[in-house]
Parts: sequence; structure tokens; C-alpha cells
Amino acid sequence: MCGIVGYVGNNQASNILLNGLSKLEYRGYDSAGVAVYDNQINIVKVKGRLQGLREMTADGAGLLGNIGIGHTRWATHGEPTVANAHPHCNSEKSIAVVHNGIIENYQQLREKMTGRGYTFVSETDTEVLAHMLDYYYEEDPIQAIIKIMHRVKGAYALGILFANHPGELYAVRKDSPLVVGTTKAGQYIASDVPAILEYTRDVVYIDNLEIVKLTKDSCEFFNEDGDSIQKEISRVEWDMEAAEKGGYEHFMLKEIHEQPKVFHDTISPRIKDGVIDLSELEIDESVFKSLRRIYIIGCGSAYHVGVAARYMIEKITDIPVEVDLASEFRYRNPKMENESIAIIVSQSGETADSLAALRDIKERGIPVIGIVNVVGSSIAREATSVLYTWAGPEISVATTKAYSAQLAAFYLLGLHLAKVRGCVEDTEYKALMEDMQTIPDKILEILANKERLQRFASKYAGAQDMFFIGRGIDYATSMEGSLKLKEISYIHSEAYAAGELKHGSISLIEDGMLCVAIASQPDLYEKTISNVVEVKSRGGYIFAVTNKDHIELEDTAQFVVYVPRCNPLFAASLTVIPLQLFGYYVAVAKGCDVDKPRNLAKSVTVE
Ligand code: AGP
Repeated sequence: MCGIVGYVGNNQASNILLNGLSKLEYRGYDSAGVAVYDNQINIVKVKGRLQGLREMTADGAGLLGNIGIGHTRWATHGEPTVANAHPHCNSEKSIAVVHNGIIENYQQLREKMTGRGYTFVSETDTEVLAHMLDYYYEEDPIQAIIKIMHRVKGAYALGILFANHPGELYAVRKDSPLVVGTTKAGQYIASDVPAILEYTRDVVYIDNLEIVKLTKDSCEFFNEDGDSIQKEISRVEWDMEAAEKGGYEHFMLKEIHEQPKVFHDTISPRIKDGVIDLSELEIDESVFKSLRRIYIIGCGSAYHVGVAARYMIEKITDIPVEVDLASEFRYRNPKMENESIAIIVSQSGETADSLAALRDIKERGIPVIGIVNVVGSSIAREATSVLYTWAGPEISVATTKAYSAQLAAFYLLGLHLAKVRGCVEDTEYKALMEDMQTIPDKILEILANKERLQRFASKYAGAQDMFFIGRGIDYATSMEGSLKLKEISYIHSEAYAAGELKHGSISLIEDGMLCVAIASQPDLYEKTISNVVEVKSRGGYIFAVTNKDHIELEDTAQFVVYVPRCNPLFAASLTVIPLQLFGYYVAVAKGCDVDKPRNLAKSVTVE
């Protein structure tokens, strides 16, 4: 996820661009750049935060011109460097582009443009667009834009300058947000409303495959056929802070709602003609075929993903999987098999214990895959190869969308291993692939019914203790649900393997104590219900999360949340959503600082 801005009008552009970008840094902040036209396109780019760009341009005073585009980056393709920072341009610097999104077929397009004699100076998917616009541009920018729209797959919101068309700012979007701001003094484009709220509350929300042409005193809109279309001006009523959160009260709630898109963004670029393609790992298939063991290591929620992944991978492949807390792994002197692979899971890519575990494993000569969300982070750089989660920047300390993206990454890995090792028939593989791709819509379905959970959760603001229980993959989800509640509401809770509770801790069950039971696994369902009855018979109050195959749970649990049916392998992606919402709404009911809980940091870079 990145932030783009653009301006054309009576005023100097660069300071407007810098101000706009400062309101979009929550969308990405590993590098930034601006392009302003003043007899030619002048581009300034920096690695790191926006402040560097302000310093390089004397807060914009050193970059004159009344039309320009700007970008603040969250790296997906290519590490955070000046060369990879946006704007990107064609060789003659007569076209400049800023891009938010992911071009899924950029490799093929890059090869095609290279074959046409174009040379690339960055590792990004975006640079392909600059050269394609150059290739297809004849006299009409709109026609050039339409030609690339018909050839590009993926998501994009683009801001574009053509030196041959001074005074004209172009934009287009597909699956990435784009908004136009309009005033008498000038016109604006942005990824999100906060970037332009300082200048106008009159905005036009651009729909998919619509093209925008702005001049200092005009706004024109076109469809993908180049026909002129009319668009309605809306009035923004939000305040600035609410706008940064997209109208949500907290970043956590916004990020919970981003999970359908994040899941899709993480899996879809890795599925080609119905088959998973993990060639980006640059691991030979023979390695996957000869694997004798997998070691998954992480901390906190990343560890919980690993626990879920172990169950999933061992269900569909013949590979033994071990999961360890990084802080334990690095000191237990583990005996590791040679023909094995380690997977370090980390949203930030900077967690000290996880990084130390990675280094220990590499010293043993065992390859390490990083499942990481921050491009160019320490774990990403030091891993043998990286399977990036494309969740975009996660602002809330409590992870939600990165967690979902990590699960998605493991589904890709697990299914790929199963196919390569001949553990699944083609028909089963195809069915699993289809089921996995229904997850985003099923998450949306759960989110559409969140109000019922909000009402239920608000009753537990005064709770002192809770239990979360489950078996198999549901046990992993119970850990994550418990952590979500603890870290943002400060209410004590414990996650327990449902079958383990009776070995002591069930003595803690008090009358009315809430016990959250996750029951998504058909082969473990009856056993889980028995454990639920054990808790209920001792006074526990049962909040169950299951799917419509288990409607009889209504007779046992006092409160049931149903998630859509899916293959049990992927159920964690659905059952975790009500638990995220539950923890969030309890914390809100308590008046806690949801996005910045006490004692916590987004990245634990100390032991
Ligand atoms: C999760 O909500 C917590 N913020 C924490 O457990 C986190 O998952 C853990 O610190 C690992 O962080 P990482 O994924 O950046 O390595």
C-alpha cells in the first residue's frame, strides 16, 4: 500500500505535494519522491521518511512549478532505495508516474519492454508502466493510458505527468483507491482524502477503470473506451484524524476490514493458470521434494500462525513440521535435520529473537524462508529467500491483517509442497485452490455482521478472566484470540488445547466465566463439544465460533457466531475474525488505547 498525490493549479505544487504526502505516510513510509513540471519534469526522490524529501527540496521552495505528482512508498517489488522510489519515468524523462498497487504481470511486461529496447533502472513493477506509456504514447495521453489499461493485470492508482502536455495532470485507477479534489484554485488527486482535506472538502471518488484529466481550472473524466463521463462531487464531512483511518475509529478496525483485500493481494499474484507459482523463492523443486522436516519459528501472533501452519502442512503433506517460539528456539540447542528448511515468520522483519534464530539456523547451513511484511527489513534481507505478505503497513500494534496475510502465505506454501511432493491428486488440489480463493469474500461476510459481536463484547468490559479453547487448527486460533484480547483490553485470558483443560486448569472455571470455544474442524468437533460441556457444567458461559454445519451448538453454547463454510484447512482465516472483533470491541468498551496499548511496541527489537 502506498500513497499518491497530485496537484495542478495557480499555486506552487511542491509544498502542496509534500503536505499531502505527510497525511499519507500511514500508507507507507520507506521512501518518497515528487515530480514537478517547470519547462521540464524535475524529480527528487529519497530513501526513508518524508522529512528527507522536505530537506532536499527546502520544504518545496527548491522545486518550482504549479503541476506535480508525489509518492510515499510501502515497498512490494524492490527494496527501499532511491532507485526504487517513485516517481518513475521513461528514459527521456518526458513521462513520470506514481503508483499505488501491485502489477501482477509486471515480469512478462518488463521482458516485453526490454525486448523493445527499453532499459530499466529499478526493480519495481511501476517502472514498467512509465516505459509502456512511452511506447504507446503518440499524441493523446488518454489513448496511451487506455492501451496500458488493457495490458496490465493487478491493482493500480496512477498519477501521470506528460512533458508534452504541460498543465495537464492525468490519473487512472483499478482496485486501488483514487480521489479527486476540486477547487477554483486548482485540482488534486490522492490515494485517500486526508491528503487533500486541508485544501478542499469537495471530492470526486473515482471508480474502477476511470481516467482523470485535470487542468488548473477543469476536471474531465473518461471511461476505458475514452468516452467522456460525468462524475458527482461529494462533500467530505470527516475530520482529519478520522480521514487517516478511512472513517474508522481506530487503525485496528480499519486493518481488520482490510483483510479481504490483503488476503487476495497476497495469494493472487502467486497463482498462475490455477497453479501456485513460488518461483520468487528461487528454491529448486528438488529441494521441496527431498525435504525431511520443516521448522517454523516466530513470536507472538507470528508463532500462532506457525502453530496453525503445522497442522495444515502435516494434514496435506508427508512432512513433519516443528514450531518454536523464537526466544526458546535460540537457546535450546535444537537438533536440526540437514535436508530441512526453516521458516521465520515476522510482520516487522525486525523482531530480535526471530532474527537471532534466523542467524543461528543459517550458521547450521539450513536454508531459511522469511515470511515477512516489510520489504527490505533485516529478516527479509538475511533470509535465504522471502515470501512477502502484501498487507501494506500495519499501524495498529495488535496485528490483524498481517496475521491473515501470513496464514495466506502458508496456504500457498503448504499447497505447493503438497503438489510438488505428489501428496494431493490434481482434483483435490484444484478444489483446495478454488476454496482458498473464496476466503476474501467469506471474511467480508463475517465483517458484515459485526454489530452483533459488538453488542455481545460490550458486556465483557468488566471481565477479569477468560478462556479460549480449541483443538488442532482451532487451538492455534484460540491462542491468537486470547492474545488479541489481552494485549488491547488488558483482561487476563488463557488459550488452552480443549482436551488439556481438564488436566488442572478447569479448576479455575468460575460461575459465568466466559469461555470462547472454536469448533471449525469436523474431525475434532465432537471432542471439542465434550470439552465445552465440561466447562459449561462447571458454570462457564460459552461463546462458540463455528460454521453452519454445527448448528446444534446452539443447544450447548449461550452465544454462537457462525462463519461461512470453507475447507477446514483454511478455517483459521475465518474463525479468527470474530475473535479479532471481540477483542477490539471489549477494548473499546473499556476505553483502552486500542492502537497503542500500554507496554507494547509494534516491533520488539530487543530480547
Ligand atoms: C501481535 O498482535 C503482537 N503485536 C505481537 O505478538 C507480535 O505478533 C510479535 O511481537 C511478533 O512481531 P513480528 O511479527 O513483527 O515479528
